[in-house]
Amino acid sequence: MSEKGKKKERALLDVVMDLLTRRGFIAQTAEIYGNGLAGFFDFLPNGMQLKRNIEKAWREFFVWSSIDPLVYEIEGSVVLPEEVLVASGHVSSFSDPLVSCSKCKAELRADHLLESQAAMKTEGMTVPQIQDALKKRGIACPECGGALAPVEEFNLMLKTDIGASGNAKRAYLRPETAQSIFCDYKRVYQTMRAQLPFGISQIGPSYRNEISPRQGLIRMRGFTQMEIEFFFDPEAPVHPGYESTRDVKIRLITRDVQRDEKTADDVVEITIGDAMEKGIFPNNIQAYFVGKVFQFYQSIGIPYEALRFRHLLETETPFYSKGNFDLEIKLDMGWKEAVGIAYRTNHDLTTHGKNSGSKLEADVQKPGQKEVRKVVPHVVEPSFGVERALYCVLEHAYRPGIEKGAEKEKESDREWDWFQIQPHVAPFSAMVYPLMKKPELTGKALELFGAIKKAGIPVFYDHAGQIGRRYARADEIGTPYCFTVDYQTAEDGTVTIRERDSMRQIRVPVAECVQVLQSLVGREKEFLDLGTPIN
Ligand code: GAP
Repeated sequence: MSEKGKKKERALLDVVMDLLTRRGFIAQTAEIYGNGLAGFFDFLPNGMQLKRNIEKAWREFFVWSSIDPLVYEIEGSVVLPEEVLVASGHVSSFSDPLVSCSKCKAELRADHLLESQAAMKTEGMTVPQIQDALKKRGIACPECGGALAPVEEFNLMLKTDIGASGNAKRAYLRPETAQSIFCDYKRVYQTMRAQLPFGISQIGPSYRNEISPRQGLIRMRGFTQMEIEFFFDPEAPVHPGYESTRDVKIRLITRDVQRDEKTADDVVEITIGDAMEKGIFPNNIQAYFVGKVFQFYQSIGIPYEALRFRHLLETETPFYSKGNFDLEIKLDMGWKEAVGIAYRTNHDLTTHGKNSGSKLEADVQKPGQKEVRKVVPHVVEPSFGVERALYCVLEHAYRPGIEKGAEKEKESDREWDWFQIQPHVAPFSAMVYPLMKKPELTGKALELFGAIKKAGIPVFYDHAGQIGRRYARADEIGTPYCFTVDYQTAEDGTVTIRERDSMRQIRVPVAECVQVLQSLVGREKEFLDLGTPIN
């Protein structure tokens, strides 16, 4: 069977995860020891750079671009004391339904088992309901056919003890970055002289002891979150940036269609403004974030049709929530949640205030009035997973190679698998090559490499092997532009730039290379308009 035929048979998740491992993006943590640590991955040079670029794109989109209102950024501790997670409810109820096989001892997510074996929707089901459904359908262990033990609640937090034995203090690795933000709310409010509305954001690691994580970067035990807690006065639930999102068109599954099984997945295309007028959003802050999140995922390369928001049903949301919207991304394995946007009211600040004895409030003064009111701010929380975003970007950017010697169907067809990643997100925006490893070429190539690096653009220098092979290696990790210094460079001061997507080439003066690259990465101009095309 051909290589291509073999690839088709495998799930895309396995194909992409395999490529990422072979091409220096990721490694299973401690893989040199047996199978490594399940649910944990290390990011190698190409993967780390890609991850960093996604985080940078997010920061630019949601944090740095926001002047009115301000969004502050913090970096909280990964370890949190027990009191914090008692107050947040994680100690008592951050759990998943666990079922184990009494014969082979496999441990499985009971709700996932129902979904895969009985095609049931399990969102919002309680443990007794899951137990009942498994029993009614006679579901056995999918690994060995053995009988299943009763379903139990399994708390997902990773515990640790701090300090010497005797008076060690119980603590946990934080299961979400949000809790550090609530703990630091008062200090940020006071020291930054913040005024409602404002946001506090954080990018950082979170840990969950997921039951049998088997979906690569989609479900991990150690992962990175990007979260914003957007604080506002419930009497003025207004986002100053809302008008800029009114015309953003989104794909949405409303609550109404989900109440009927036959229409449960029907998507409507609607603008943020129209959805707001129809009363779909509880306030324009949540509407604003839904619009921005939809735009953000398109900007990093997820196609419009592969994105949809789902308005969670009342039965799926906690009692304190006034509305949750999940962004789902279409993958080969089905639609997966990538972002949750929750209107959490003032539940978190109220419970942390009560349990800690601190006053977690803000002063509010209406324009032209003397009276100052104290309020416990409400929050809308957009919560993103970095690795999940990274995987979705890669699966959508994956382009399989054609068979060796086969006729091209498209101009861009090639014999190697490659990634068509957006230029500002790709691990490296550019490669710089000397045509050959000779001093008269390497000197100029290193100079150009240094100039691109100095401009803050991720770039890689490669002088090993034939130029065709180097282009293929660049495609394999999704590099959009390759600069080659050759013998003509000494004669007329120009270099060749090759574009990944079209495989076309132009000649550009060395002195203009950084500016040209900036225009290309910023999608300001067409490739062929930036230099002299080579036929
Ligand atoms: N503070 C809210 C919160 O943490 P969540 O829906 O549990 O909400 C938010 O998580 C996002 O974090 C998810 O949409 C997903 O992108 C990411 N995420 C959650 N659990 C994950 C896991 N086990 N592995 C990778 N990403 C995960």
